[in-house]
Amino acid sequence: MANVIIVGMQWGDEGKGKIVDLLCPAFDSVVRYQGGHNAGHTVKFRDRHFSLHLIPSGILHPGMRCVLGNGMVVSPPAFFGELDRLMEAGVDPAGRLFLSNRAHALLPWHAELDQAREAARGDQAIGTTSRGIGPAYEGKVSRYGVRLGDLASVDLAARLETEYRRVQVELESLGAPAPTPLDDLLVLCAGWAERLAPLLADTEVLLSEWIEGGESLLFEGAQGALLDIDHGTYPYVTSSSSTAGGACTGTGVPPTAIEGSIGVLKAYTTRVGGGPFPTELEDATGEYLRDRGNEFGTTTGRPRRCGWLDIVAARYARRLNGTGVIALTKLDVLDELEEIRVCTAYEVDGQTTPNMPPEVGAFERARPVYESVPGWQQDTAGIVEVEKLPRAARDYIRLIEDQVGGKVELVSSGPRREETAVAGGGVLEGLLGARFQNVLEARGN
Ligand code: IMP
Repeated sequence: MANVIIVGMQWGDEGKGKIVDLLCPAFDSVVRYQGGHNAGHTVKFRDRHFSLHLIPSGILHPGMRCVLGNGMVVSPPAFFGELDRLMEAGVDPAGRLFLSNRAHALLPWHAELDQAREAARGDQAIGTTSRGIGPAYEGKVSRYGVRLGDLASVDLAARLETEYRRVQVELESLGAPAPTPLDDLLVLCAGWAERLAPLLADTEVLLSEWIEGGESLLFEGAQGALLDIDHGTYPYVTSSSSTAGGACTGTGVPPTAIEGSIGVLKAYTTRVGGGPFPTELEDATGEYLRDRGNEFGTTTGRPRRCGWLDIVAARYARRLNGTGVIALTKLDVLDELEEIRVCTAYEVDGQTTPNMPPEVGAFERARPVYESVPGWQQDTAGIVEVEKLPRAARDYIRLIEDQVGGKVELVSSGPRREETAVAGGGVLEGLLGARFQNVLEARGN
């Protein structure tokens, strides 16, 4: 029985939702630790299809507990909207969905600020999801934020008033419309507080009790390592700690209680929003990846930028997250290609480096150094045993293991839960113990 973190090893959209969903049967609870409704997790099984943004995908597993940790920023209307859609689809969250009363409330003016600031940045725009994530975290760090547990507090009006004036001045200076009036906001807050009350909890206490009781937790990362506020490609990042370290600060669970992490890596690379992307393909192959991989944002519908697998970035992500197991996703998207390239180093200012330059200017100048491997040009969709993959696909997996480090023990060959190869006898089975069998059963054998 282990507590395990699932993280994205690229710029998000690696397919974490599917892997979390597949592994849920081996755990008692799923815990989100950062981000907000900027995330988009898609889960498909049989004829069902869910898009989740705030609520962990564990909610789709009857009886499984789901926690939104203190490291998150939660928009109450987005949360209620998602909850209502789940309930309409027959999902029963009663007694198993908990929100940290220390998580911060994402208020309407955070989105208003996000949009006004992005417009003001012009061609330096981050390309945010415009949900207000950055301003909500900024409110938290500047200690002007409102936590979910504060929404019902008696001095809420006084606290919001101070912040309201700051927001008003900033929006005006950016030429943006005035924020949602304070009185309206207070009415909204009162309604949110009432509906949230039964779901709020001191989740740090709950989680530590569950761990002491021998239960196992799956920590669900959102976004990806390269969007981490500290370790990502700053300033083109999100505003939270999306690497494995965030699981501790974002939940209150100590590092000593966490046994491992699983990195989710897409077989090629995608990115939404601005920022350097050395392996980006702005040609027919890029178009092919976007079309075949259906690379359009779950949250915003924006077309994703597509390119070859960047091993330099993946290696960095593996080190940051201590990932022992890699879940390789969307391998089938590469099926038709005659030649596949992987970037194994960068050339920056005439020097070859195996590492990611920390400074954005140098990263912008980084040119990919490619290795080329033959494609398999065979249909791999739905193959659920690694040994049954074509030889060239297995060679591609070996190359990733050799160059990135870690073991590829999960290979996703289609969007559905059933379309996943799961290797036994390795690091994953060691982490999950007897519950590894539950995963195989949920996958459908
Ligand atoms: P924000 O998180 O909305 O502030 O956006 C900051 C950057 O992170 C932008 O480039 C977004 O496109 C990117 N981003 C945020 N959430 C996701 C995600 O779930 N998947 C992929 N990119 C994301």
